[in-house]
Amino acid sequence: MAFIDWTPRFSVGSPVLDQQHKTLIAIINKLHTAMQKGGVKDDMQRIFTELISYTESHFNAEEAMLRKIGYARLGSHHLQHVEFVQKARDLQAQLMAGKFTVSIDLLRFLRTWLSDHIMGTDQQYAPFLAEQNSPIASRA
Ligand SMILES: [Fe+2]
Repeated sequence: MAFIDWTPRFSVGSPVLDQQHKTLIAIINKLHTAMQKGGVKDDMQRIFTELISYTESHFNAEEAMLRKIGYARLGSHHLQHVEFVQKARDLQAQLMAGKFTVSIDLLRFLRTWLSDHIMGTDQQYAPFLAEQNSPIASRA
């Protein structure tokens, strides 16, 4: 069993965004595996950097999609993304400086943040995306 398993409860109803969430989960799982194998510092740094850059491109894609449908709560959603990226960048700086190492606590933080975000904040836009993509909406 992986550290995080994607389940249908994570689905936001968009195959593109679901795929991106699956990729994020896969990167966190990769970080977890690297840590379990003894956590070579360079590997951890590389995977953590990959996680941050993928997260940023995913957030941009998600926000672009929400902007397109005129999602009313985009502002507060965007703020959650910004806060997460700031926190992750801060951790990355400490990791690079050798002041910090990837621990199970960090991985649990990432897992909790991601699952709370996907099953909470992201689920709030799911009905709006669904409405936009419904056959009736696309005929309008
Ligand atoms: Fe999000």
